[in-house]
Amino acid sequence: MSIYYSPLRYPGGKNCIFSFVSKIFYENRLIGANYAEPYAGGAGLALRLLFEGYVEHIYINDLDRSIYAFWKSILNRPDEFCQWIKDVDVNIENWNKYKGIQGKGVNDFELGKSTFFLNRTNISGVIKGGVIGGQRQKGKYKIDARFNKKSLINRIQKIAEVKNRITVSNLDGLSFISNLDKKQEEIFIYLDPPYYQKGADLYMNFYSKEDHKKLSKHVHKMKKKWMVSYDNQDFILNLYAEQNKVVYKLSQAASNRIGDEILIFSNEVEYEESISALKSPVIM
Ligand SMILES: C[S@@+](CC[C@H](N)C(=O)[O-])C[C@H]1O[C@@H](n2cnc3c(N)ncnc32)[C@H](O)[C@@H]1O
Repeated sequence: MSIYYSPLRYPGGKNCIFSFVSKIFYENRLIGANYAEPYAGGAGLALRLLFEGYVEHIYINDLDRSIYAFWKSILNRPDEFCQWIKDVDVNIENWNKYKGIQGKGVNDFELGKSTFFLNRTNISGVIKGGVIGGQRQKGKYKIDARFNKKSLINRIQKIAEVKNRITVSNLDGLSFISNLDKKQEEIFIYLDPPYYQKGADLYMNFYSKEDHKKLSKHVHKMKKKWMVSYDNQDFILNLYAEQNKVVYKLSQAASNRIGDEILIFSNEVEYEESISALKSPVIM
């Protein structure tokens, strides 16, 4: 059964590897450590680890200002945000209004609402994408098909209750991990950068080949324990040639494909007992 703690829908969201990652926490005696995602997106996995008692504090970072604005708004002004959800009409007029706000110089609270509205009303939650049911609402599913106000408000209230255990930021992934690596506390870092092949149409801030290279150089120097996930591509395998890796199957609703995904680990991370929780895992 899927359990959703995140109010955002996210293409390629990693909630689905929760049972594997929670086992990794046991296998590596990391229960109660802190946890960070430099490319957090919908942060479904981070929230689940927090709510189910695996980690003490989560650091969620995303360079996309729209995504950051959402997290910041629900942590700082949850009551106003939930009141707005209660009141807002989920219709095409508002969709056009909130679409028009993206990329404009509005404040974080307005941008956060716009991000949430589009994420819940667009096909697969892709902010740049089209509305569910089309502009003329002739489709089988309508604009409000994924906008269950009660359940979304509950999720936001639950997150706001633990806001002291959540830190959000809007940094480039590399600056974020440099800052984390300087901290004394134990932090497990899970990096889920934009895919090598699919990134451009799903998210903002498309990563170039050079960016993937730079990231791998940075990651190799990190002192904390880490794990990286990617689509299974030779270019990426070569960047992490010396590291331990597992390939497994991940079903990705946003791209309609069942693809091979790779997980790459820092040398100190044990994973042999945990991989049975992945679909068709193969150690590389
Ligand atoms: C594969 S998605 C992460 C999905 C996430 N693991 C989840 O379960 O929802 C990659 C994320 O990286 C963000 N991103 C892209 N370039 C970035 C950068 N240079 N620094 C930090 N975040 C970045 C994108 O906005 C996107 O949200």
